[in-house]
Amino acid sequence: MESEEVYDANHTKFNELWKSGWRCYYEEYTIIKGISINKEYSESCLQNMRIMDLGCGSGDLVAHMIEKGAEKAVGVDISQKMIDDANDRLFTREDWYSRFAFEKANCFSIENMNEIMPIEKYAHYFDAISSIFLICYAESERELSEFFRLCNRYLKDNGNIALITLNPRIALEFAEYQEKTKNSPFRLISMRENNGLPVVEGGFYDIETNELKFTIHPIVYSREQIQQVLEENGFETEEMEYPAFHPDFDVNVLSPIITMDFLTRNDSKNIFCKAKKVRSL
Ligand SMILES: C[S@@+](CC[C@H](N)C(=O)[O-])C[C@H]1O[C@@H](n2cnc3c(N)ncnc32)[C@H](O)[C@@H]1O
Repeated sequence: MESEEVYDANHTKFNELWKSGWRCYYEEYTIIKGISINKEYSESCLQNMRIMDLGCGSGDLVAHMIEKGAEKAVGVDISQKMIDDANDRLFTREDWYSRFAFEKANCFSIENMNEIMPIEKYAHYFDAISSIFLICYAESERELSEFFRLCNRYLKDNGNIALITLNPRIALEFAEYQEKTKNSPFRLISMRENNGLPVVEGGFYDIETNELKFTIHPIVYSREQIQQVLEENGFETEEMEYPAFHPDFDVNVLSPIITMDFLTRNDSKNIFCKAKKVRSL
């Protein structure tokens, strides 16, 4: 798969370019608040929860979830290099050994997920499933559907999915969004259509040297597509909006980054979606 090769080859660059502090005050904050007890973000807001993070990359969100009290957080990614980075980072925390695990698998294949986490054993096991910038790698609605179907199998009744993906407006107003990302570490280069789905060519840039480091080809799914595939797989969509900022997020200190990535309360290249499992498959 393209994404496995791309992230295996570029995991170090991705982690260097993308590991800036604001993500934990914005994307990770929104996800954690969204799945937490009473929708609060506090020291122990994920206490006793079992959570799976799909497309976990090098494990930042898993670490953040354990800090917030998660009993168990499992990260899954298709890139072995990302999984190795995640293990290297979290194995420095002996006190966390029993609370995290990282596994390599294709998150759009029930068969493949079943090999690393047998459904027979783990059905109805997790309280919540998160995923940041993974569903844009589902190459078709069929793959997206398989993703939500496997989430349904692993989640408890009333369990939540919380995810962040590309803002659907990118496909509708490409030129405007391309302009907005022109100084960002992640820039929109071009857009084409493949099997009726809008595919973006996105580039990761070193913003100091302005050098293009590597490119990816995510798909922009519309709100309606995401909502419909969720419904078909036993979920009810509860939120579909922009991610929120942590109240301590110092906009003044971080404004250059925010400006580069045009993160505002009313616009962003990201969208946050939360759904509840209302029917078991
Ligand atoms: C943009 S990165 C996001 C990583 C992490 N969620 C974050 O926010 O930092 C996308 C991740 O999804 C992973 N990925 C892509 N396709 C995948 C698939 N089919 N199954 C599992 N992981 C996949 C990549 O290896 C990569 O680590």
